This record gives sequence, C-alpha cells and structure tokens, in this order.
Amino acid sequence: MKKTQRGVSTLLLVGLLVVVAIAAAGATAMLTNIFDRKQEAKVTTTRLVEVTQDTTDPAKWGVNWPKQYDSYLLTAQSTRTRFGGHGGSEALPEQKIERDPWLKKMFLGYAFSIDYRDRRGHAYMLKDQEETARLTKPQSGSCLHCHATVMPLYRELGGGDAAKGLEASYKFSYKDLNKKLHDMGHGHSVSCGDCHDAKTMQLIVTRPGFIQGIQKVANSDVETPFAPSIERWRAAGKAKPYDPNTDATRTEMRSFVCAQCHVEYYCSTQLPLTFPWGKGLKADQQEAYWNETKFPSGERFFDYKHAETGAPILKAQHPEFELWSQGVHARSGVSCADCHMPYQRDGATKVSDHWVRSPLLNINRACQTCHKQSEEEIKKRVDLIQQRNFDLLQRGGVAITALIDTINAAKKAGATPEQLNEALELQRKAQWRLDFIAAENSMGFHAPQEAAKVLGEAVDYARQGEVFVARLGIGVAKVAVASTPAAAPAPSPTTKKP
Ligand code: HEC
Ligand code: HEC
Ligand code: HEC
Ligand code: HEC
Ligand code: HEC
Repeated sequence: MKKTQRGVSTLLLVGLLVVVAIAAAGATAMLTNIFDRKQEAKVTTTRLVEVTQDTTDPAKWGVNWPKQYDSYLLTAQSTRTRFGGHGGSEALPEQKIERDPWLKKMFLGYAFSIDYRDRRGHAYMLKDQEETARLTKPQSGSCLHCHATVMPLYRELGGGDAAKGLEASYKFSYKDLNKKLHDMGHGHSVSCGDCHDAKTMQLIVTRPGFIQGIQKVANSDVETPFAPSIERWRAAGKAKPYDPNTDATRTEMRSFVCAQCHVEYYCSTQLPLTFPWGKGLKADQQEAYWNETKFPSGERFFDYKHAETGAPILKAQHPEFELWSQGVHARSGVSCADCHMPYQRDGATKVSDHWVRSPLLNINRACQTCHKQSEEEIKKRVDLIQQRNFDLLQRGGVAITALIDTINAAKKAGATPEQLNEALELQRKAQWRLDFIAAENSMGFHAPQEAAKVLGEAVDYARQGEVFVARLGIGVAKVAVASTPAAAPAPSPTTKKP
C-alpha cells in the first residue's frame, strides 16, 4: 500500500514537473515571439539627419533608413502580371477604355471616357495625375489628397487644422492648388511621412478623408471583422471619437495606411472629398449612402448624366480596401502590407519591402509564409479566381451595352424620360456594381465570393432594365443582344522578379 502510494506521488511529481516544463517552454516561446515582434516594430537607427512631419522629400528620410528607401525607389520600375501592373509602354500605361470598349460606353458623358489607363507604381502617382487628359475637364484641388505629399499644404490652408485644409481644397481648381503645392516645395508622390510618425517611425494615418471615413464606419452599426478595435471602441462607450492613430492595432494600421487612398470616393467641385462609408463598406451600402446624399442645390447625388441615355450615374473608383474588408483574409487579420509589403531578411533584421506591387511577383515572401503549397499551386489558385471573375465581368459588359442600346433605341423611337425612368434607375444600379468590380484592381482576388455576388446583381439589373423597356413596346426590336463576352488575356510571363 505504502509502496503504491509512493509510486503514485512520484508519478504526480513527474507529471507536475512535465506540466511546469511545458508551461515554461510555452512562456519562453511566447516571449520570444513577442520579442521578435517588438524587434520588428522597433526601429533602431541612429539618425543622421533630422526629419519632421513637414519633411516631404523621401530622399532625406532615405539617409536614415536607406533599405526602405531603396526598395521604395523601385516603384518606378514597370511590372506586369496577367491582370496586374500595367500594359502599354514604359512611357504610358495602356488605356483600359480601349481594351474594354464597354467601359468607354458606360462612361460616355464623363472624363473617364477620354482617358482611363492602367495604374502603375507609386513613384508615378503625381506625374500621371498631372498628365491625364481628364484634366481637360475642370478638376478640383481635392484630387491631390491621394496623389501627393499634401499634408503641409492642408495644414497651411486650414490654419494648422488639416481637416479644415482638406475642406477648403475642393474650391480650388486642380491647377491652382497643384501650383501652390510645388511652390511650397512639396511636389512629391506618397512619401515616408504619409504613413510614418517622424519621431517614432510608428505607422500613422494622415489623410483627413480616411479619418473622417473610418469614423463614419465606427459610428454606424455594421459589423467590422476587419477592424476589431472598432468593435472594442463601441463596447467601451464611444466616449471620444474613434481615432485610428490611437485606437487601432498595429495589424489594422498595416491596412489603414493603404486605405487612405485605395478606396471609393467623391472628388469634384460641388462637395468636399467624401468617402461614402456611413452605412458600411459593401457596394450596396455605399450605393445607399450616395442615394441619400444631396448636392447643395437639393438634387440627389450623381457623378454624371450618361450622354446617350441621360441616366444619373454613380462612378466607382478603386475600392480595394472595401472589397478586401469583405474577404476571408481580412477576417483572419491578414493586412495589405502582409501581401504587398512582405518582410525581407536582411542579415539579422527584417525589412518591410517598400516596393509596393503585385504579390504575384513575390509569392514566396507574400504568400508562402502562411500557405505551404508550391508556388505553382498558389499561382494556379489565384488564376482560377481571377479567370472566373474576368468571365463574369465581361458578361456584365455585354449586358450593360445591351441595356444602354435598348434605352437609346426606345428614346429615339419617342419614349420620354418619364416613361424610361425605371430603366434609367436600373442602369444606375447595374453600372455602379459593374464598375465597382472593374475599378477594383485585384480582379476579384481580395474577396472572390463578394465580387461574384456584386457582378451577379449587375447582370440581373441590366437585364431587368431591358425587360422593362421591352414591355413599354417602343422601338426595341432592332437592338442586337451580343452573347459572346470577350476572352481573357493569355497568361503572360511575369516580369521584373526581385
Ligand atoms: C492575401 C493577400 C492580399 C491582401 C491581404 C491584399 N492584397 Fe491586394 N492583391 C493581392 C493579389 C493576389 C492581387 C492580384 C495581383 C495581380 O493580378 O497581379 C492584388 C492586387 C492588388 C492591386 C493591384 C496590383 C497591380 O499590380 O495591379 C492593388 C492596388 C491592391 N491589391 C491593393 C491592396 C490593398 C489596398 C489591400 C488592403 C486593403 C490589399 N491589396 C490586400 C493580394 C492581396
Ligand atoms: C481617395 C484617393 C484618390 C483621389 C481623391 C484621387 N485619386 Fe487618382 N488614383 C487613386 C488610386 C488609389 C489610384 C490607383 C488605382 C487605379 O488606377 O485604379 C489612382 C489612379 C489615378 C490615375 C492613373 C490611372 C487612370 O485612372 O488613368 C490617374 C490619372 C488619376 N488617379 C487621376 C486622378 C484625378 C484627376 C483625381 C481628381 C478628380 C484623382 N485621381 C483623385 C486614388 C485617388
Ligand atoms: C497617398 C495615396 C496612396 C497610398 C497611401 C497608397 N497608395 Fe497605392 N497607389 C496610389 C496611386 C495614386 C497609385 C497609382 C499610381 C499611378 O498609376 O501613377 C497606386 C498604385 C498602387 C499599386 C500598383 C503598383 C503597380 O506597379 O502597378 C499597388 C499594388 C498599390 N498602390 C498598393 C498599395 C498598398 C498595399 C498601400 C499601403 C501599404 C498603398 N498602395 C498606399 C495611391 C496610394
Ligand atoms: C504607404 C505607406 C508607407 C510609406 C509611404 C512608407 N512606409 Fe515605411 N512602412 C510601412 C509599413 C506598412 C511598414 C510595416 C510597419 C509595421 O508593421 O509596424 C513600414 C515599415 C517601415 C520601417 C520599419 C522597419 C521595417 O522595414 O519594417 C521603416 C524604418 C520604414 N518603414 C521607413 C520608411 C521610409 C524611409 C519611407 C520613405 C522612403 C517609408 N517607410 C515609406 C508603410 C509605409
Ligand atoms: C498572414 C497569413 C497569410 C498570408 C500572407 C496569405 N494568406 Fe491566404 N489565407 C490565410 C488565411 C488564414 C486564410 C483562411 C483560411 C481558413 O480560415 O481556412 C487564407 C485563405 C486563402 C485562400 C482561400 C480563400 C479565398 O479567398 O479564396 C486563398 C486562395 C489564399 N489564401 C491565397 C493567398 C495568396 C495568393 C497569398 C499571397 C498573395 C496569400 N493567400 C497570403 C492566410 C494568409
């Protein structure tokens, strides 16, 4: 009996030791992990030159942080993947409206039907804006919000308050405000101080458009799985306005810095720059927000009247942040920077790749840190998602063309705007959805199922519009309804590997 008792207590002791050992190992692993992250977050450089939030020239920051600066300079290189980067020449990216004629058809009556090209690297953002033929139509000073180091100018315009500065900027013409920017010496593309605090090098958001936009999201009641800090702020009683710079986590900031620009917006001469996020980030929620927005005249908001049909159209712009927010990566805490600015080993330290570009040029660092499949398999999975999205998008292009032609034929045969009103509303709905996914730059990857849903609705609304006009029975017989959508570009070899 005694012997057995001793046996049991020895066993207990051994068991206890094992538990303690495992706990200790766990704690060490966690500490190491936290320490690693701290190391990643902490920037230990002795500064050779002083920089402040008003230092907009990235070359000055580059003296202190040459590795990040060197990779940032590479954004001047041209890149191409099957659907990403840009076609055309080194001198000028390809026209999207020539590649997809239905885009041009949708934009008739708006500056985007004159010039609308592929995007390219960050180094070009100011130059490409200054040179677009869209400037042949009057554009507002708000355009600079996302294409230049505009913060010192906003602070000056707003007497120290950048938000006031932004609000003042839409009343300036683009040409006048851009000249002022250059005269002040701040004519640069996005620079270090737009995403970093000059004192600590922590991530910050600077753009008032984003800060106001994300506050609208916080004040709404939509779920925000992509930003748990918003849900915590709501639960804590909303004592102060939600402030991404103090409330958001580091993971969230790794996406918020990009969401300062890669979003849907209104930017013209009638209202200040607006991110339409008060009812949430989905396509239909943003549409609902625009539908309730009124111009100073009291008229319902629209971007332009379609030149052929007269429909009051909403133009969508690159909603990368919004589409990403609806996907499984966002839900899992995978940020824009994880895929578009992955870590590079540099001796004992890790450096974030500031050559922001397509992750498909960089699959080993951008994806294989989390996904253990082969590079070929990962590429194939992306390709399948993008091909399906492309096919559905082109089907939408055929449907919207048919709707516009049908309305037009009825108009020519004598149908009045009042008779056609419902069809014009359906054109607005269909175009908004098609454009939302066409203007988004991941070809559906950021949230495949959400993209397919939006495109499905677009095709449905376009065809509903046609049925409506057909039932009017005025002049529809002659419209040809094409049924073969365009083919996808052949897989092209990716260029410019790191
Ligand atoms: C899980 C990885 C992942 C995350 C997270 C992610 N992206 Fe992407 N992104 C991609 C892939 C893959 C593509 C498609 C690239 C291609 O077709 O070459 C893409 C495409 C893009 C493009 C077009 C790139 C080009 O070369 O034309 C932009 C712009 C973009 N993403 C911005 C963002 C922003 C902003 C966020 C965060 C709100 C984000 N992405 C989050 C993987 C990601
Ligand atoms: C909220 C941020 C934001 C504002 C405001 C903004 N842009 Fe952009 N712009 C972007 C982003 C992001 C891209 C790259 C993605 C793309 O091309 O879809 C871009 C791309 C462009 C391009 C290159 C591709 C193309 O469309 O031909 C031009 C030119 C351009 N913008 C001009 C303008 C003009 C003119 C204005 C003012 C009417 C403006 N932008 C306002 C964010 C913005
Ligand atoms: C200040 C506004 C701004 C910020 C902040 C910004 N972008 Fe951009 N981004 C742009 C504009 C504008 C372009 C298009 C430039 C052009 O076509 O001339 C662009 C282009 C891109 C491209 C296409 C590159 C290529 O070679 O084709 C990618 C990818 C991209 N951005 C991702 C991101 C990610 C990820 C972040 C956050 C880490 C980010 N951007 C932050 C404005 C911004
Ligand atoms: C569009 C936003 C953006 C711009 C512009 C930008 N950075 Fe960063 N930078 C980031 C992000 C995101 C990280 C990752 C930070 C993190 O996870 O805490 C980062 C990290 C860093 C770090 C920390 C170490 C590392 O590599 O992770 C340094 C230093 C740095 N950047 C320097 C610069 C310099 C110098 C410039 C200008 C040449 C610059 N950055 C421009 C977004 C930006
Ligand atoms: C930081 C980790 C991380 C990185 C980096 C990452 N992923 Fe993911 N990915 C995930 C997680 C987590 C899921 C969700 C898996 C689950 O919950 O079952 C996922 C899901 C996916 C899916 C299936 C879901 C969908 O949206 O279709 C694909 C495809 C995918 N990832 C591709 C990529 C590609 C391509 C890249 C690089 C451009 C990448 N991932 C980078 C973590 C990551």
